[in-house]
Amino acid sequence: MRLEHTDSDLTDIDADLHCLGLFEGEDPPGDLAGAPGAEDVETRFKALSILRPPAPARVLIVGLGKREDFDAERARVAAALAVRQARRFEARSIAWQCPEHEIGASAAAGITAGTILGSYRFDRYKSHRDDDAPDRPELEVLTLAGAGDEAGITEIARISATAANRTRDLQNLPANVADPAFVAARAREIAAAHESIEVEVLGPAELEREGMGGMLAVAAGSEKDPALIVLRYSGGGEAAGRPKLGFVGKTVTFDTGGISLKPAAGMPDMKMDMSGGAAVLEATAAIAELGLPIDLISVLPAVENMPSGGATRPGDIITQLNGLTVEVNNTDAEGRLILADALTWCERQGAARIVDVATLTGAVVVALGSTYAGLMANDDDWASDVERAGAIVGELAWRLPLHREYTAMTKGKVADLSNAGTKRKAGTLYAGAYLQQFVEEAAWVHLDIAGTAWDVGREYVGRGASGFGVRLLVELARNESASG
Ligand code: BES
Ligand code: MN
Ligand code: ZN
Repeated sequence: MRLEHTDSDLTDIDADLHCLGLFEGEDPPGDLAGAPGAEDVETRFKALSILRPPAPARVLIVGLGKREDFDAERARVAAALAVRQARRFEARSIAWQCPEHEIGASAAAGITAGTILGSYRFDRYKSHRDDDAPDRPELEVLTLAGAGDEAGITEIARISATAANRTRDLQNLPANVADPAFVAARAREIAAAHESIEVEVLGPAELEREGMGGMLAVAAGSEKDPALIVLRYSGGGEAAGRPKLGFVGKTVTFDTGGISLKPAAGMPDMKMDMSGGAAVLEATAAIAELGLPIDLISVLPAVENMPSGGATRPGDIITQLNGLTVEVNNTDAEGRLILADALTWCERQGAARIVDVATLTGAVVVALGSTYAGLMANDDDWASDVERAGAIVGELAWRLPLHREYTAMTKGKVADLSNAGTKRKAGTLYAGAYLQQFVEEAAWVHLDIAGTAWDVGREYVGRGASGFGVRLLVELARNESASG
């Protein structure tokens, strides 16, 4: 989608739908005050009203609620509601009068993100033969009136929301299409499009040579080869004295549970068990597109978790890349096995500040629902940097504790570690404490996004794949760009 800025009056802009937000107590401005429908306008947050001035044909009024309650999140929601109407009117272009408010350009950035995220759909497998899925036009242009693009933040919002939508495509693609090789091909495509990015893909032979026992154990049951997909982005961060960032994303292209097989209900969603990796991948592309002055290494451990005659058995003992031995007591606790190797590898490659993003535990869905991702960290400053970046873009994370008693729970009976407990105690923190043992010196944050990667139900992401993490990671990288 194209983004344009203008100083024109809203009603003078050439667009299929014109939108205006009104705070409580405000009336439609200027000529619109006398337009048919003006006396019935509602300004409650999320209320929608239509004005019918002589020109343009209609103006959508979106209630913004109390002025003091307004923030970027409300702007994203308002924009998504407008997009829904635009679709009804088969609009290809939207013009928005940005509200004047002390949050400044954040409102315009919110409208941009909300419009792009809200216009997402995944219908490439629909043949549009039936009336309930008509072929509606795509949104092509958003014109913002009355918004100065302070520090280019609407452009950042455009690039990161577009990257989030690409992530949602990867999440939605079925596992018979989006397998480890497919994700590796997307990584190569990104590297080919950006001179600042180099790609490396480690296959089974290299994983064996490196000693990535976690990767190999999870992949053992699948016909699909595992791949450790690595993107190196050089934006001149080290030269500027900035620590190298490391992003690690769980990329299980399908999680059956393996021999510890999952129940059938809900299993189709496990095509999205690569959501963390997809977010890292497309965030890296967005960071390159923005040319942020940081250095970044992104690592995607990509595998499929299947049961078969070759699969890892419950009780099998493996050795992770850092030398720790593990009883694989539950083959469905596969994410931590591949992330452990990826974290070790990422730090050995020089990353000093690491974030991993993973659909890791059902327990985090119980604890935090779809509102917050679970955040665990070995470093308070890095934890609050990540938390703050998420709060700015509306990808919320709530810090959960690490503790040596959780670490003690991960001890194995006959090996160093067990990948899963027998009691259902603190499942999310068990996983966090497990991962912690694979980070040495680096500042590290673990984001458990099992609850936020899909089925969020917020106006601008709906119930399907959310692309969670992309906008947080880009904001975090932007914040890092200003440091050092
Ligand atoms: N991919 C799942 C976690 C998950 C569950 C993500 C629901 C999204 C929605 C993960 O690999 C898993 O199976 N975790 C187990 C761990 C357990 C066996 C210790 C879980 O949470 O049940
Ligand atoms: Mn699993
Ligand atoms: Zn999984």
